[in-house]
Amino acid sequence: MKTEQRANFGSKLGIILASAGSAVGLGNVWRFPTEVGANGGAAFILIYILCVLLLGLPLMVSEFIIGRRTHANTADAYRILAPRTPWVLQGYLGVFTAWFILCYYGVVAGWTLKYLVESGLGEVTKIAHSTEYFASFTSHPLIPLGYMVAVVLMCHLVIVRGVQGGIERSSKLMMPMLLVIMVVLLVCSLTMPGSEAGIAFLLRPDFSKITPNVILSAMGQAFFSLSIAMGCLCTYASYFTDDARLVKTAGSVALIDTLVAIMSGFIIFPAVFSVTGVAPDAGPGLVFITLPKVFQAAFAGVPWLGGIFAFMFYLLLLLAALTSMVSIHEPPTAFLIERFGITRHRATMIVTAVSILVGVLCSLSFGPLADYRLSIFDLRLSIFDFFDFISAKIFLPVGGIIISLFVGWRLDKQIVRDELTNYGSHPVPEYLIRGYIFVLRWLAPIAIALIFVYELR
Ligand code: TRP
Repeated sequence: MKTEQRANFGSKLGIILASAGSAVGLGNVWRFPTEVGANGGAAFILIYILCVLLLGLPLMVSEFIIGRRTHANTADAYRILAPRTPWVLQGYLGVFTAWFILCYYGVVAGWTLKYLVESGLGEVTKIAHSTEYFASFTSHPLIPLGYMVAVVLMCHLVIVRGVQGGIERSSKLMMPMLLVIMVVLLVCSLTMPGSEAGIAFLLRPDFSKITPNVILSAMGQAFFSLSIAMGCLCTYASYFTDDARLVKTAGSVALIDTLVAIMSGFIIFPAVFSVTGVAPDAGPGLVFITLPKVFQAAFAGVPWLGGIFAFMFYLLLLLAALTSMVSIHEPPTAFLIERFGITRHRATMIVTAVSILVGVLCSLSFGPLADYRLSIFDLRLSIFDFFDFISAKIFLPVGGIIISLFVGWRLDKQIVRDELTNYGSHPVPEYLIRGYIFVLRWLAPIAIALIFVYELR
């Protein structure tokens, strides 16, 4: 591979912020609170943290090893490490799953942009009639398409500028902004009258709520939130410098990702309890249906304050979504550039164009194409749900199992040691390395297989 001229990240901070940008996304601000709400609060959070530590971190480190060792796009990485073996298929699976995810992720990111624009225009009252508003907006044949195309183009503009000038620079700008907005929103939310009920919901674990289902949801959420198994982290790691410390980087990324998820919970639940006084059983409508009502009611006397709160919240959501979309756009782009020798400009165009085309179908499946169903197993899903299902519920766990088996069983352990310790210059205790290999060989594949089978039942 063309290791010499290949781009890389400029600094360790850039590496951490870009990877954290990939991890922190709709999964943290939208999906995590929804899952917490649906699975009973504090006990779920504890199990979630265990899943991140025991399964998420080892898998993230594995992707880092594969990427940094080969300095190649995901598909070529497996060809370099295990030429002419079926493992190579995992590389392609990563590239295509990323592409699939981009198509439907852009639709939700587009909704976020719409809500940002509306709250910026002072239309909180409009979005607060939220159930009807949300339904009529998402089912409109044209407007959501425009917003979806707009966010995919924003992502395009970042990717086309390359690794340092695009991905790294935008992460260094957007991630600090995101963190500042979070802290401001957190303070507002925690000081609302009646927020104690929300805080208690998040802090007082009720262990009777733990069922196999809750554990499986926590695992699935941990993988999605950490961006595991789709070649995103592996592609980013191919731009890591040789002095980057893989375990430390993975630790920082997982810590930032988990903190942002928990902070989102602390922003959303106290506000929701403060206004509605009841536990949210959430559902995906939480941020687009429940929250606009909360924004309006919480600041009933001073609507413009509600507007500012809403504006900041949707800006937060959009920033989080954009940095993740960038990381999902990069694996197919890098693949096209390196495999077909085309320019970054052209590769980015191709990925963007295809994502928009398929994204249009996903978006229309909330409106004019709502009755069009695709069958898989015994399910009949809308186009959006179909893409979500095959990527998040099928390819993601399959990819996770293959990656853990690959690094656990197939990859030369000397490579693993060299990458973990940076060729011995930063020793890692032997018991950690052994524990790590054990998790990859047994714990991770079995645990993921369980989620997989359980979800498909
Ligand atoms: N982790 C991101 C989020 O929390 C989404 C994401 C980006 C992702 N890249 C991924 C999920 C790769 C699975 C695999 O929203």
